[in-house]
Amino acid sequence: MNKITVIGTGYVGLVTGASLADLGHEVICLDIDREKIEGLREGKIPFFEPGLEELVERGIESGRLQFESSYCVALKEAAYCFLALPTPSSEDDHCDLRFILSAARKLATEMQQEMIIINKSTVPVGTASKVADAISEELDKRYVSIPFEVVSNPEFLREGSAVRDFKEPKRILLGVESEHAEKKMRAIYAPFSDKVVVTDIASSELAKYAANAMLAMRLTMMNTFSGLCEKLGADIEAIRAVLGKDPRIGSQYLKPGVGFGGSCLPKDVRALRAICTDAGQSPGVFDEILKINEEQQAAFFDKITGFFNGVEGKTLAIWGLSFKPDTDDLREAPSLTLCQRLLDSGAILRVFDPAALEKAKAFFDSSDAIVFCESETDAATGSDAIVLMTEWRRFSYLDFESLGALMQSKVLFDGRNQFTDGAPLDAGFDYLPIGKQAKRQVAYS
Ligand code: UDX
Repeated sequence: MNKITVIGTGYVGLVTGASLADLGHEVICLDIDREKIEGLREGKIPFFEPGLEELVERGIESGRLQFESSYCVALKEAAYCFLALPTPSSEDDHCDLRFILSAARKLATEMQQEMIIINKSTVPVGTASKVADAISEELDKRYVSIPFEVVSNPEFLREGSAVRDFKEPKRILLGVESEHAEKKMRAIYAPFSDKVVVTDIASSELAKYAANAMLAMRLTMMNTFSGLCEKLGADIEAIRAVLGKDPRIGSQYLKPGVGFGGSCLPKDVRALRAICTDAGQSPGVFDEILKINEEQQAAFFDKITGFFNGVEGKTLAIWGLSFKPDTDDLREAPSLTLCQRLLDSGAILRVFDPAALEKAKAFFDSSDAIVFCESETDAATGSDAIVLMTEWRRFSYLDFESLGALMQSKVLFDGRNQFTDGAPLDAGFDYLPIGKQAKRQVAYS
């Protein structure tokens, strides 16, 4: 058991804090947002993440998980302090370290004893030293000398499966400068000792970017092939199956779609482009990833407008808004860009998402042209087409026969290839997937 403070109760901080408490550590989750902290004390989770509510409840009941908005209280006994703070893109696409560095300073004004400070956020090489410098400066101002070390321990948690990802890690990356710090960190992750990978700090910081860039690159390749398949009459799903059987390539992260989004991939690729430029390395590959991702989103819009010869006055049911299933996160979600483009082109939208609907309202001006619907069926009613943007599992269980009967015309644009099994086709829908030939029931006039 160790006394740990986690600064930042977002997706990463809260999952990390609650999971560490579940491992038996004594954890205080600290956030400057008092309302959030009050809510968390009552077990209210500020976002949707499967399994997190139960985990937090269990932590509170065990007495090992507490929530605090005062640095002074939260750091009184802490021997470890995790930084799980946002690192957004700055205006010039660099990684903005404002939140990390100000938290580091605040923690230095309150820390009482020897401490390991662990950075969980995705940050450029050199950040650990910046954090260390900021802490030293604040300690100097206090005329105290407290030993501390800064460690890099990037998160590899996927939204939607973050609780499971923490419990079943593929690797735990520790970027350390000393054996002492390594030993201290191994004690925190003792149950996962076989998963620990130890590197120098710079490699750890860069490895996190490398992992996300590699994933973005795979998707970019698949999305490019999907466009090529549509043009040349090939089938991206067949190609995916062939690629996935090659152990050198692997089968995961090969699904084509409407462009990748989320809080990490786009931002990290943008940051890498800036990092390369600063370091005198060609950023070409990252430029292309970002460009192709935008083109993929635009191509899907063109597919919809091309089908109808313009969408003015057309009613479209949008299924799924979050950037991927099992989350309510809308950050850089391709659905938002698509919806705005369709609205600007005169379409009427009936949107539905199982988790992100409330949050989505903030992204659009209130207007008769966008209706937030209570269900998939509600959204489809009276629509000229369904546009599927997020592959929520529940969509697979819908009855397309009865859905079709409620629509003006039976058309499905499947932005995630969720229905390649043919259910909508059997129900008489025109079916337009990604990277495969569209299947039309009758010639449209
Ligand atoms: C990502 C990384 O996966 C994780 O390791 C890191 O720690 C944080 O960033 P996350 O942002 O939760 O996690 O999303 P992820 O599951 O990676 O999906 C990102 C985007 O890629 C989504 O828009 C998703 O729809 C898209 N995607 C993913 C595909 O289009 N096809 C795939 O096969 C997989």
